[in-house]
Amino acid sequence: LRLGILASGGGTNLQAIIDRCADGSLPAEIAVVISNNPDAGALERARKAGIPARCIDHRPFTSREDYDRALVAALRESGVELVVLAGFMRLLTEVLLDAFPGRIMNIHPALLPAFPGLHAQKKALEYGVRFAGCTVHFVDNGVDTGPIILQAVVPVLQDDTEETLSRRILQQEHRIYPRAIELFAQGRLRIEGRRVLIDPPLD
Ligand code: GRF
Repeated sequence: LRLGILASGGGTNLQAIIDRCADGSLPAEIAVVISNNPDAGALERARKAGIPARCIDHRPFTSREDYDRALVAALRESGVELVVLAGFMRLLTEVLLDAFPGRIMNIHPALLPAFPGLHAQKKALEYGVRFAGCTVHFVDNGVDTGPIILQAVVPVLQDDTEETLSRRILQQEHRIYPRAIELFAQGRLRIEGRRVLIDPPLD
């Protein structure tokens, strides 16, 4: 399975996927890493791993749609079969969604539908929840609203800060994102309306 990773930041989720591909536990290969941010640590991580890395800066583009057309062209050029958003800080338009129907995944650092959008870990902490976590989902035309594939739960501790909670969630992100991609690579995911069925079901 050929993956196209879109990232804007440090790329620790990318690194988890790189590591799992390298140790053979994830039957996939990263065909390209694309960032909108020239300074993204994710690009550096890709280069260190010998993976094609491209910066497609969004600023020169006059519309979101034009930007997505450039992304689609780059992804198609690399023969990408699954688009993996890993800390990609741009909203997708139907240009990208229509080019990869049912083939775009995202990870969000909260138990969706709770706390969509930015600063999810901080929102959870301030709300006073006892549990937080992360969600891997297929991307649809909403913000963090697509069909949920996997989730992981972590406790929120009395003395947690945004940093300590984010770190605890990130550890789980690095576990469930590669797992979700593996399930897709094995053809075990089926979208039925809002639900994602895993066949055979996880034990
Ligand atoms: C993670 O918190 C992820 O949940 C969110 O953005 C962050 C990406 O971190 N989408 P990294 O760039 O993968 O380290």
